[in-house]
Amino acid sequence: MYFKRVIATAIILMLGIWFAGCTDSAAHENENPDVEAASERITVGFSQLGAESDWRSENTESMKATFTEENGYTLIFEDGQQKQANQIRAIRMFIQQEVDYIVLAPVMETGWETVLQEAKDAGIPVIIVDRKVDVSDDSLFTCWIGSDFELEGKKAAEWLNRYATAKGIAPTDIHVVNIQGTKGSSPQIGRTKGLADAARANGWDLMAEVPGDFTQAKGKEVMESLLRQYADINVVYCENDNEAFGAIEAIEAAGKKVGSDITGGEIMVISFDGVNREAIRYTLEGKITCIAECNPLHGPRVKAMIEALETGGTPEKFSYVDEGIFSADQTVDVLNIDGTDYEVTILTEESMSGDDKNR
Ligand code: AHR
Repeated sequence: MYFKRVIATAIILMLGIWFAGCTDSAAHENENPDVEAASERITVGFSQLGAESDWRSENTESMKATFTEENGYTLIFEDGQQKQANQIRAIRMFIQQEVDYIVLAPVMETGWETVLQEAKDAGIPVIIVDRKVDVSDDSLFTCWIGSDFELEGKKAAEWLNRYATAKGIAPTDIHVVNIQGTKGSSPQIGRTKGLADAARANGWDLMAEVPGDFTQAKGKEVMESLLRQYADINVVYCENDNEAFGAIEAIEAAGKKVGSDITGGEIMVISFDGVNREAIRYTLEGKITCIAECNPLHGPRVKAMIEALETGGTPEKFSYVDEGIFSADQTVDVLNIDGTDYEVTILTEESMSGDDKNR
């Protein structure tokens, strides 16, 4: 914290005065610019939840590229490997190390009260990033930055609704399965709700909701099993791109075709993230029909929050990032959700050429 660094600087100054009283040669022997520079830096303990997806890798990279020594930070990075217990252990370690800030990307929403209370008692501000925590006392964390996951789900579902309406497809002819993300995580809760609400409102046949843990391997395994159980699936709603890659593998291995002709035997793949090259290529090829964007580049956003706190400011308690929706299919160009218009970005080979098709 700021106060801690002021004390450290004062100690260094006092030591400097003391050294000045020593002989020149003795003073030179004891100077250690590295120690001084380190004590000036802000220490951030970041508990990342894991490395399950391309989105997560981009998110980790954004944090590591932001919290560098050149930028005035010492970053202590801990990978929770998808286990809340590991993340709790990391937070306790950060408290023992007396870091200046704790940044937490929580694997799931519940179960954080005790450890966040410990951080609060230690006087360490906690910034929550990406997913949310479900706590009864909001003062247990300083602020949160991330995506509106339910809005992402509403966008994807509304895209399907507009598409079906434009093509004259009856709601009862939409047989959709949902490969969900990690159960109990904010993106799973929000995206699942977005689809379930739309299915109920529009009269779609929502056949199954099965967790796929946001991974390609589980997405494939779940899709294989769903294809064995249900003969008439024509839409698969994957709660991230890695699950979509796995689902596409399973669909093609079963001798079926992915695409948007859902009354002509194809299975439409709808997805989330839009982070990597492969997802964009699949979209251009029509293998993924629509992607609701989820933006992982939170490093600079968290840094801005810390800078505000350092200068006595108060960041917004909840900050949502702006996100779009992508498709190579031109049927739907705009969505209206709760009174707001969202333009669909139509991806073409031309619009993506010259781009590295990556963020
Ligand atoms: O919390 C963000 C989600 O987590 C991303 O959509 C997904 O890819 C990741 O694993």
